[in-house]
Amino acid sequence: MHVHPSEKRYFIFTFVLMSIFAAALAVGSLAFGVQLPAPYQLVDPTTIRATGGTSGLPFDLPEEERFREVAPGQYEVYMHAYAWGFSPREIRVPAGSRVTFYLTSRDVLHGLLIPETNINMMVIPGQVSRLTHEFNTPGTFNFVCHEYCGIAHHIMYGQIIVE
Ligand code: CUA
Repeated sequence: MHVHPSEKRYFIFTFVLMSIFAAALAVGSLAFGVQLPAPYQLVDPTTIRATGGTSGLPFDLPEEERFREVAPGQYEVYMHAYAWGFSPREIRVPAGSRVTFYLTSRDVLHGLLIPETNINMMVIPGQVSRLTHEFNTPGTFNFVCHEYCGIAHHIMYGQIIVE
């Protein structure tokens, strides 16, 4: 079969480009810990309430019990997003802690973005999203909702204080 030389060059160019993309994906996920927020499980959003939820998941616990240490240096937080806030809105962890976020929305679509971390996900009513991050640098990390969710979207934020 005859392949025109310029066609052959494009085959090679395409192959090289795809290899670069695949390598970038591999480096991003293996070396930099970039993960896709996994749809961890489904939940009926009407069972998630500010207090006294009936989902049967840790989301039903009082706010102060939804952030907990599960092993030395390992924390998890079951967080609700709602119009317009996060519950809990502030968490404190020692530097070097690994925090797994479980998030769901009790009403509309929200987002969670923690700048300078790999935490960037949509918070979807009916779905529990999960992401983990290790907080090594002490400081205050403000997090925001970055999906437009109504008139007070701009005041929907919280803080992670790494001590
Ligand atoms: Cu919630 Cu924007």
